[in-house]
Amino acid sequence: MNTLSNTSHSAAVPETLSPGLENIVAAETVLSHVDGAEGRLIVRGYDLAQLSSRSFEAVLGLLWRDFAAGPSSEAEIAAALGRARARIFPLVKDGLAATAELTQVEALRLLLSQLSDEETDYHYIVAVAAVPVFAAAIARSRAGLDPVAPDPDVSHSADFLKMLHGKEVGSELVGALDTYLVTVADHGLNASTFTARVIASTKAGMFSSVIGALCALKGPLHGGAPGPVLDMLDAIGAEHNIQSWLTDALGRGERLMGFGHRIYRVRDPRADVLKTAVAALRDSGGRIGFAEAVEREALALLAQKKPLRPLQTNVEFYTALVLESVGFPRESFTNVFAAGRMAGWTAHVLEQDRVGKLIRPQSRYIGPSPQRTL
Ligand code: ACO
Repeated sequence: MNTLSNTSHSAAVPETLSPGLENIVAAETVLSHVDGAEGRLIVRGYDLAQLSSRSFEAVLGLLWRDFAAGPSSEAEIAAALGRARARIFPLVKDGLAATAELTQVEALRLLLSQLSDEETDYHYIVAVAAVPVFAAAIARSRAGLDPVAPDPDVSHSADFLKMLHGKEVGSELVGALDTYLVTVADHGLNASTFTARVIASTKAGMFSSVIGALCALKGPLHGGAPGPVLDMLDAIGAEHNIQSWLTDALGRGERLMGFGHRIYRVRDPRADVLKTAVAALRDSGGRIGFAEAVEREALALLAQKKPLRPLQTNVEFYTALVLESVGFPRESFTNVFAAGRMAGWTAHVLEQDRVGKLIRPQSRYIGPSPQRTL
């Protein structure tokens, strides 16, 4: 093929090409750091293990600190989120009918798009408040149930489950969901957070930025994996099938959902936090023991079949078990992930606003040289 050479026609384009932007540093952040070699996640100076006992509201305060002049204490943030959930709820009625043919994450995308970037007052709080209100209503509508109005006086996690189930649930379930939301709140420059920062860098606004992030999260290589983890467990069915099922799947060149990560070369620390959370819940029907057996066999087979690439359990494997245990249908899992990650997306948008620099990388042209005639 006749192509433009880098040296003769476009000397300004750097030589280095990194497909997937692997190992490229594209932003500086005070928000979080993923240490893939050590298996550590640090969020604003705290290890994930330290944060996992804090409330989601406390972690929001930590992430938003210095970037926004609004509510800052845990109690103030809880109250502001409660008010915002109540304010958002009327949008459910207006938007839900149009989502009937969509998947749950597409429905969330549509409902969020009702929010206007012209609104700049506490838009980061509105963004976080909106996800559980919409996600719970969408999940209920798929079961033929009416939406349940938010209760502004309970915690964000308690209200999420109350809006989902139509009644208060036990504190152990609320605690497990809160741990999950904290665990996934922020995670470096992952694909959806990068998307949010790219959009924010154009000054498109908070809601456009986080809706773009949701679109990136939707893919099965990012936030779309936990539903398929349960599909995999169901398809395996019983302990005696584990080895043959996994061997066949890898033989067909399929990826095992819930394993592997772009950054972690050791175990994803979030997997352990969630494994502990799920172990504290009542194990209905031996699901957790079965999942552990699948995990053991998958890790052994991956080490054998992909010796050059360390592939370990990622966050999505135990996410699937936590979210199933607290009662979310698997089709809604990506939306629950978005409820947690909205914390990080909003903080990164606020941080990117401070940077004020348009994100605009270069591409290397490998098409034909200009033709003399059309
Ligand atoms: N099962 C089997 N093989 C795998 C898996 C897996 N889960 N993950 C990676 N590999 C293999 C690839 O087939 C490839 O093998 P090859 O070199 O022989 O072709 C090698 O490992 C490298 O794969 P890449 O796609 O280059 O690695 P990358 O870092 O881009 O992938 C990803 C990361 C997308 C998460 C990948 O591990 C994957 O697809 N996992 C399954 C889906 C999943 O669990 N997603 C959730 C991720 S966590 C999150 O986003 C919150």
